Amino acid sequence: MPRPSARTRVLVTGAGGPAGIAVMRSLAADPAVDVLAADMDNWAAGLYLVPPAARLLLPAGDSPGFAAAALAACTRMRADVLIPTVDAELQPLSDARGQIEAVGVRLMLAPGQALALALDKLALARACAAAVRVPRTECMAAADPASWTFPAIAKPRTGSGSRGVRRLDSVAELTAEARPGYLVQEYLPGEEYSVDVLADRRGRVVAAVPRLRARVDSGVSVAGRSLHSRQLEEFGTAAAEAIGLPFICNVQCRRDAGGEPALVEINPRPPGSLPLTIASGVDMPRLALAALYGAELPGQAFTETAMVRFLDQRFVSMADIEQVPA
Ligand SMILES: Nc1ncnc2c1ncn2[C@@H]1O[C@H](COP(=O)(O)OP(=O)(O)O)[C@@H](O)[C@H]1O
Ligand SMILES: [Mg+2]
Repeated sequence: MPRPSARTRVLVTGAGGPAGIAVMRSLAADPAVDVLAADMDNWAAGLYLVPPAARLLLPAGDSPGFAAAALAACTRMRADVLIPTVDAELQPLSDARGQIEAVGVRLMLAPGQALALALDKLALARACAAAVRVPRTECMAAADPASWTFPAIAKPRTGSGSRGVRRLDSVAELTAEARPGYLVQEYLPGEEYSVDVLADRRGRVVAAVPRLRARVDSGVSVAGRSLHSRQLEEFGTAAAEAIGLPFICNVQCRRDAGGEPALVEINPRPPGSLPLTIASGVDMPRLALAALYGAELPGQAFTETAMVRFLDQRFVSMADIEQVPA
């Protein structure tokens, strides 16, 4: 792995979430990596998986001081690499990429243009239309209600965590719900899949691991399986390559009425169910770190694996909780 110094210090954000913790655990298994953990909340579990000197608090990703605080944190903690795992942090860090790279920190994040496409569900649908099946998608305010069939889906053009996603059952609902910043989208009635995709620095895909969520609790997949499907692997690869996403992303699709997979969205960051992909044989965070340093990645095979999940805990002193530096 062509990394410059003997040890690489990697700052992972979102240490309270499953994606952040999955990235931290993967990288912690590399003896040449020191993992640093950041979150906006001093109760975030992942902070306590690293030594006290490797923890810190950052402001919320959507607060005005976030990018400057992240930059200062990288300098103070002597981070070589910054890996964001929180949606709200991606655009601010992309905007600050110049300053971050100027202090010698490598940012594991898609280039601005690809990121902008992934974060805008209308632009994404247009950009991927030549590569994969995309559902009909229009701005709600400009849509002609009479031209739509129901059910349809209403969702924010920029959103996450299923916030604002709802089913529309009639012309009347479409007319009543029409709001700026919202899209109307063809309803996809079939099975939903997530495809975790790993690409090199230039966006050439080397692994696509489809997953099926068997059980979901509060939006988190608590049981699931990876599955071999040439159709879904090609779908994930084609969608990620269409917009040029490097490193780790997560392509979500659902089958249409005819059984064909169609694009729901792409998350341009590590997903929370990454442990299943890693257990299936593709250790995406470690491979992505190598790619960030310019390594050529060979194609990756995986083994179908099932995952059940449960809560775990760490016990720390109240002083630990109160003393995480901001
Ligand atoms: N066109 C659609 N047809 C059917 N279900 C959909 C459609 N779009 C979204 N959904 C459902 O809503 C969920 C959230 O939508 P998504 O576009 O992934 O937004 P978010 O960024 O909030 O995760 C999806 O996981 C899927 O279950
Ligand atoms: Mg989604």
